[in-house]
Amino acid sequence: MAFETTHGSQSVPAAAARPGGTGELAGRTVARVGYGAMQLERLRDDRSSAIALLRHVFDLGVDHVDTAEFYGNGFVNDVIREALRPQDDVLIVSKVGAVSDPGGPFPLRVAQRPEELRAGVEANLATLGVDRIPVVNLRRMDTGVTIPFPDDQKVDLDDQLAELTALRDAGKIGAIGLSSVSLDVLRRALPAGIVCVQNAYSLVAREDEELLDLCAAEQIAWVPYFPLGGAFPGTAKVTDEPAVLTAAERLECSPAQVGLAWLLHHSPRTLLIPGTADTGHLEANLAAGAIALDEETLAALDAIPARPSTGPRH
Ligand SMILES: NC(=O)c1ccc[n+]([C@@H]2O[C@H](COP(=O)([O-])OP(=O)(O)OC[C@H]3O[C@@H](n4cnc5c(N)ncnc54)[C@H](OP(=O)(O)O)[C@@H]3O)[C@@H](O)[C@H]2O)c1
Repeated sequence: MAFETTHGSQSVPAAAARPGGTGELAGRTVARVGYGAMQLERLRDDRSSAIALLRHVFDLGVDHVDTAEFYGNGFVNDVIREALRPQDDVLIVSKVGAVSDPGGPFPLRVAQRPEELRAGVEANLATLGVDRIPVVNLRRMDTGVTIPFPDDQKVDLDDQLAELTALRDAGKIGAIGLSSVSLDVLRRALPAGIVCVQNAYSLVAREDEELLDLCAAEQIAWVPYFPLGGAFPGTAKVTDEPAVLTAAERLECSPAQVGLAWLLHHSPRTLLIPGTADTGHLEANLAAGAIALDEETLAALDAIPARPSTGPRH
């Protein structure tokens, strides 16, 4: 995807075309296929490979990366800080609402109170090594969560948005997004100026279609997590779906590419952040934007019902 241009007698690397075309996020134009950095946790014993993979992501034209301080207990943010070079103009989106809990029963602990959200933003600023995070998602626990949490973590939305708005006014974050929210919570949050919503959503998990419609109507970016069904055992996988396998054969591409191509086709408001620690999968995911879905294939994919998930959906 990279190409060269000639300036005078010098041949210099030019920006790669943006995978999937372009969409809007927080007033910025970004590639519609971005990168979800959570899977980099798996490379924590191979830091140089994690950095090399991320630089490959940037070199292939991706300029939108999703992360969290609690991915690998700071490891993923650390890798992003080290991988970014001066020429990489990448929109980093992080999230607050949970923290790493290495000694706990689950690797994460819910941290929803306003002072914890502020501490989460500070921790992201420190590990990313920046003065301001372009977008921070408030990771709520309204849908799709299995981490148990005590009553004092059931925090009023208005108190949380007041804290994030103060952080935005102070310039520590550029814009506010939401994650794992219900339709009602999104409606209530709209006056705060929400730029994106990140819920679990894919060809096999389409319960949030109404949220997507509201995002489209409000010109809010829809950035589904688990676009392929996630890596956790127990979550329904797009690549297990018979209609997806049939479509992949017909279109001569991989089942994962079918799932991503469908998401891009389904709504122009959708931006993708598929996660991978595998270079081949990364390249395939970025190429999914070029796959055209014919009417018959679309009808078969649209007819896939939501599949139940039994495992963790954090
Ligand atoms: N807001 C939230 O609460 C929340 C929650 C979870 C995740 N997220 C974000 O969303 C991003 C995406 O979610 P996710 O990474 O959990 O799940 P995902 O993108 O649905 O799936 C990732 C899994 O699919 C595999 N995969 C990726 N590309 C593939 C391909 N072309 N062919 C075959 N397998 C492929 C990956 O394995 P390989 O590594 O082997 O390719 C990994 O096992 C995360 O990285 C994270 O940034 C946000």
